Amino acid sequence: MKPIEGIRACVFDAYGTIFDFASAAARCPDIPDEQRGALTSLWRDKQLQYTWLRSLQGRYADFWQVTGEALDFTLDSLGIATPALRERLMGLYETLSAFPEVADTLRRLRAAGFVTAILSNGSPAMLDAAVRAAGLHDLLDAVLSADAVQVFKTHPRVYEYGLRQLGLRADQVSFQSSNGWDAYAASAFGMRVVWCNRYGQRREHLPGTPDHEVRSLAELPGLLAPPAR
Ligand code: LAC
Repeated sequence: MKPIEGIRACVFDAYGTIFDFASAAARCPDIPDEQRGALTSLWRDKQLQYTWLRSLQGRYADFWQVTGEALDFTLDSLGIATPALRERLMGLYETLSAFPEVADTLRRLRAAGFVTAILSNGSPAMLDAAVRAAGLHDLLDAVLSADAVQVFKTHPRVYEYGLRQLGLRADQVSFQSSNGWDAYAASAFGMRVVWCNRYGQRREHLPGTPDHEVRSLAELPGLLAPPAR
């Protein structure tokens, strides 16, 4: 397979791509097994819906607030809402585990000469906390938040902001996301895209076509031609 040429920076989505959002509920052994999975998926679905709905309405609130409101909906729906559980899960969301291959992949990309960055809906404070807790702060050149443009992905303003901060053109960036909707949108925007389809999602019927689909970020360095030094 021919490697993707001309890439200068590898830019990553955060939640679901670098950080395992299921690790919050997984660290609550007192939640019954059968509710843990439901909690994780409803919390995530609502969180994403709220980002899109708020973006459509022009009523931005940062991702920390949206994540908390989505959690309130979820705990109510499951009939397990208590202030203590809410606080515990929000605290755990700040220190999610990174997927096991992430640190090594970032190290390999940097050794090959790529710039590495996160471009996420996450608020600056929550991204900073998660990056530090996972020990990734020395492996990322930039951690960029949609908060700077007060709208969420998939608004093109967010992807544009990423390019502006990195001083690169869209075709010089390889964007990695495990979220199909994000991967397709970044591709429609003009970035090269590697869809890390961890969750075995079906293809989207939306604008954009990811250049590659992989199951783990460990496959990424082998897909990219190293930048000219
Ligand atoms: C992110 C979420 C939405 O932007 O995955 O990091």
